Amino acid sequence: MANTKSIHGEWSSRFAYILATTGSAVGLGNIWKFPYITGENGGGAFVLVYLGCVLAIGIPIMIAETMMGRRGRQSPINTLSTLSTEANASKYWRYLGWTGVIAGILILSYYSVIAGWAIAYVFKAIFSGFSSDAAIVNASFDDLIASPVQLIAWHSIFMVATMTVVMQGVKGGLEKAVQLLMPTLLVLLLLLVAYAMSTGEYFFEGLSFLFHPDFSKISSDAVLTAMGHAFFTLGLGMGAIMVYGSYLQGGVSIAKTTLYVAGADTIVALLAGIAIFPLVFANGLEPGSGPGLIFQTLPIAFGNMTGGWLFGILFFVLLVFAALTSSISLVEPMVAWLIENRGFTRVNASVISGGAIWALGVSVVLSFNVWSDFKIFDKTIFELLDYLTANLMLPIGGFCIAVFAGWVMQQRHVRDELALPEQQYRIWKFLIRYVAPTSVFIVFLHVLGLF
Ligand code: PHE
Repeated sequence: MANTKSIHGEWSSRFAYILATTGSAVGLGNIWKFPYITGENGGGAFVLVYLGCVLAIGIPIMIAETMMGRRGRQSPINTLSTLSTEANASKYWRYLGWTGVIAGILILSYYSVIAGWAIAYVFKAIFSGFSSDAAIVNASFDDLIASPVQLIAWHSIFMVATMTVVMQGVKGGLEKAVQLLMPTLLVLLLLLVAYAMSTGEYFFEGLSFLFHPDFSKISSDAVLTAMGHAFFTLGLGMGAIMVYGSYLQGGVSIAKTTLYVAGADTIVALLAGIAIFPLVFANGLEPGSGPGLIFQTLPIAFGNMTGGWLFGILFFVLLVFAALTSSISLVEPMVAWLIENRGFTRVNASVISGGAIWALGVSVVLSFNVWSDFKIFDKTIFELLDYLTANLMLPIGGFCIAVFAGWVMQQRHVRDELALPEQQYRIWKFLIRYVAPTSVFIVFLHVLGLF
């Protein structure tokens, strides 16, 4: 009874799907967020927990989420209604689709503001180059985030760009953008790693910070952040991967493509860490200095290296594009639903969703300056949105997806969709039924102090 095709169109090939999904996964999460939260949470032990979560929780859930999307073939909300009917399960499962749509809106409202910083850096670099002096680089970042007008302008540009791509639909906009950008970004990251190597002893200090686990440094909240980040970086738990899976043609191996995407995503994050921490130590900066970390370190590298001006501009341009290929997947569940259930055209659906997210983003901008003292639960609006989505909503969404795929759906449907050899299927089933949900649960108990 599952539909055979999505009304929104399909990817033109398996390769196009892999690119688009990698585009959704690789973004600010890898290059901006991973290094700074690693710095804030003490390094090695945090990285190890994050890698463990990607393997034991992220990959099985990513397979499940894609599988559900391809079987349901609609926006996550309608996919969940269809699949719960098919499984004779409660209709309430569709609320899981709803929380996903809401998480997408909340995430994009701050994601777009940070992507705006990256756009600002492209222009800063073009007009005034990069300084190799850490103090000047710091001051320039502080200037930027102190200015609501500038931040709102850059955030607006990013939102307009996102919605313009979303308006073009699955094939037109999305696919083409990713094909060229991803490989180039990888090359530039390698170049930055090569530069980091030139810092000699600091390179090893950086490596040891990243890969030498010291578990005494890690709190239960750090474990939650590491797990939340595994969801965030793979784009799981809110329907982005589900909606992309719904545009995937039958016959393509979901497990295999998931492994490629998760592998690429992890490599990019680790490379970003390897490029950044040596610079942090070589310049006497603080690893835990927060969301500004890459903006306060990488310019120093560009300021020092030959050809750095050009490479730097290119790097920030690519960072913006990496953010763009993720941001479109954050709104796509909402846009697809507005088209399916409210009869909107794609253009109107994009304008409405974009407008709402933009407005919320303005409050995020203000939380970095004018409202920086306004705190709820001791967190600024930016910190609160980040915590609420990455640490709570995505893992809870992922937990429910694991339960749905592992326990609620009929196993013959799941088998059909995954088409895995028996032994691999059993491994996945064990992970999705037991390992993934229990791990998420235990981390929550731990944070609540109950375990
Ligand atoms: N994975 C993206 C990143 O790392 C962000 C994202 C989160 C995308 C959730 C889709 C869904 O930047």
